[in-house]
Formats: sequence, structure tokens, C-alpha cells
Amino acid sequence: MLSLKERTAFLKEMLRDSYHTGSVTPSSRFLANEMARQVKQARNGNGQPYRVLEAGPGTGPITKQLIMSLRAGDELVAYELNQRLAEHLMKSLGPLAEERQVRFEVVNEPVQNVLQRNIAFDAVVSGLPINNFAPALVDELFDAMLQTLKPDCPLCFYTYMGMRKFKKGVTFGEKRNRIAAVDRIVKQRMRDLNGRTKNIFVNMPPAVVHTMFRNGKS
Ligand SMILES: C[S@@+](CC[C@H](N)C(=O)[O-])C[C@H]1O[C@@H](n2cnc3c(N)ncnc32)[C@H](O)[C@@H]1O
Repeated sequence: MLSLKERTAFLKEMLRDSYHTGSVTPSSRFLANEMARQVKQARNGNGQPYRVLEAGPGTGPITKQLIMSLRAGDELVAYELNQRLAEHLMKSLGPLAEERQVRFEVVNEPVQNVLQRNIAFDAVVSGLPINNFAPALVDELFDAMLQTLKPDCPLCFYTYMGMRKFKKGVTFGEKRNRIAAVDRIVKQRMRDLNGRTKNIFVNMPPAVVHTMFRNGKS
């Protein structure tokens, strides 16, 4: 259950910057569990420490489930653009990561910067509000997140159910063109990378978890 403190912190950031925050409330535990489950399910049995990247953790509902599902010696690197949320995240989840012996780093930078580090991840999880963004930025974000993945490893992200279809129906001109282009990008990437989806109804609003694999493992 999300605490009132977490909801309030998130809402404050939404009111300050709705474009980057993209939602009025953090993800439900059902959505967060499913995102973490997708990562766990794709884990191979080679016994090596697992390295996961999270883009746009916000107040950390998915981060928490990831930490809970990772093993001692694994690593979670979270890129959060918003400085207040990045600080909140380290403060609230740093102790849990320490307790579970998961190496946890919060980077207060755009996730695209991850490419400068030249590290390969075993899984990438994204909570970025791509439906808000310009098509060129959506492509740039997908490229960066996919490039940093090892071959055949998963990129898991969520979007709100029916939201692009709804926006296409109620907007005109440039706004409609933008959301239609974002829709095409998501569909194309999902097709190219053998994407699969899972609906999560218990979330505000209901969400769709998308999982695609670098180089097209189904
Ligand atoms: C919809 S919120 C998701 C919060 C959280 N993942 C959840 O499920 O509740 C999106 C978050 O992405 C962050 N963000 C937006 N663009 C980003 C970028 N390029 N790199 C890193 N974080 C970004 C925002 O600051 C915000 O905290």
C-alpha cells in the first residue's frame, strides 16, 4: 500500500512538472509487482550477479519491488531526472537495498546519459511517461534503453490503457499528429522486438505492461 507521504510527494512533483511526471499518482503495487515479475522471469540461470537499469523511478514503487526481487550482489541503477524525487528515493529505499545487499545507485540525470557509462544491463525497466513526449524524444529514449541492454534481454515499460487512442480521438492538428506518431513508434518497436503485453486493471489509470527484447527474443 502506498503511504500518504509517497502520494503527496508525487502529487507535488506532478503539479510542478506534469510533462515529465506524467501521472497524478505512483504506480499501484499490482503494476509494480508485474514489472518486477517480468524482470525476474527473464533472468537466466547462470548465477552471475544481475544488473538492472530503471528509468524514471519517481517515488519508487517499482524500485521497491525490484529491490525485493533481486538477490544479494545484484545491482540496480535508477536514473531520475527530478532532483527532489532522486533524493527522496535514495533516502527511502537505500536502507532496504542495504539490508538486502543489493547495490543501489540513484543518478539524478536523464536516462539517455546512461550510454556515457558504457555498461551493459541484464534488464531495463521504464516508468517514463512516453505518451507526453515528442516522437523524436520517444525514439531517442527507446534507442538509449535498448542500446544499453545485453542481447536478448528485456526492456519493460508501461503505458496507460487506451490513452493514446483516447487522445487521438479528442485532439486535433499538431497534438493529434504527435500522439499518433508516438503510437506508431510503440507499435513498430513492439512488432520488431517480439513485444508482449499484459493488462493491469488495478492501477490509476489501468495500465498495460509492455515487454520487448533486444534483438527479438520472444
Ligand atoms: C510517471 S512518473 C513514474 C513514476 C514511477 N515509475 C511509478 O511507477 O510510479 C515518470 C518519472 O520519470 C521521470 N523522468 C522523465 N523523463 C526522464 C528522463 N529522461 N530520464 C529520467 N527520468 C525521467 C520523471 O521525473 C518522473 O519521476
